[in-house]
Amino acid sequence: MKAGSDIKHAATLLRSGKVVAIPTETVYGLAANAFNAEAVINIFEIKNRPKFNPLIVHVQSWEMVEKITTTIDPLLKKIAEKFWPGPLTILFPKSDQIHPIITAGSAYVAVRMPNHPLTIQLLTELDFPLAAPSANLFGKISPTTAAHVLEQLGDQIEYVLDGGECSVGVESTIIKMNMYEKVEILRPGGVSAEEIAEITGYLPKTISGSETPEAPGMLNSHYAPKMPLVLGNIEELLKRFADKKIAVLSYYKKFEHPAIVKNYQLSPKKELHEAAHNLFSLMHEAENSGADLIISELLPDEGIGRAINDRLKRASF
Ligand code: TXA
Ligand code: MG
Repeated sequence: MKAGSDIKHAATLLRSGKVVAIPTETVYGLAANAFNAEAVINIFEIKNRPKFNPLIVHVQSWEMVEKITTTIDPLLKKIAEKFWPGPLTILFPKSDQIHPIITAGSAYVAVRMPNHPLTIQLLTELDFPLAAPSANLFGKISPTTAAHVLEQLGDQIEYVLDGGECSVGVESTIIKMNMYEKVEILRPGGVSAEEIAEITGYLPKTISGSETPEAPGMLNSHYAPKMPLVLGNIEELLKRFADKKIAVLSYYKKFEHPAIVKNYQLSPKKELHEAAHNLFSLMHEAENSGADLIISELLPDEGIGRAINDRLKRASF
């Protein structure tokens, strides 16, 4: 069986240096032993991921965080304690335990304590942390089900630990402390800027984009479906592309137009968390709908809506 919920089997494969897909609350990850550089190199090869794009290290205890870092800023620790386990990744100065291949040469390692029962149990069984990017081919749509993983990587990996549908549906928020001792967001995600502000007392600035040297992985063209995705006012785009077969990805409205092959509503009840949960799944469906073009609209730019808009913009790049 390529997929199942056999934690022991996943642990055995990981101990022998193999790569295994694991469920998290955000998206599925493609995991390997973070203390085994050769195992980690396999991740880059399977994903076809450039080596300059560093990996997040997943842990289940503070003991492990201390092993892989040198200093832990007290404010970052306070934020971690509020949101871990959960969809938040934090950059800390790395210890010698972390091979430079994981951080792409950076002195900082990205650390996350994921919140999925199977993966927490898996990490508890292991005496090493798991380096894991999202389990998609480089630049493609992130997987939120085991089936998505198998579709892209099925013939390259031995096992997907199947934990069902990812509850959050967009990747973790990545934060760091900047040189002025302010918390900054490198990638908007499952924890919103507003939620972090409750601890920092200010809204952390989002500095994502390919111009960010600290996050070489934040490439603009990411999450790309097979066909173009155009963002804008859906009514206008329907008129402009009336001669095409169109898949519509709307926030909550349902559109009528002869060019529409299928209209996917991110959240019929107009709720941003539901929209985040459905985003990648519906992008996958739209991609396989037979349309020549996907058209979509930006959502309210607040809370987790910022992460959704970030992914939509990258998908349309
Ligand atoms: O929710 C998530 O974060 C998922 C699940 C599997 O945990 N993981 C994920 O990994 O989204 P990935 O590799 O697809 O995206 C991680 C991003 C990359 O864009 C990478 O550039 C950035 O995190 N990153 C990782 N380590 C970094 C580091 N040391 N410094 C700066 N950016 C880093
Ligand atoms: Mg990714």
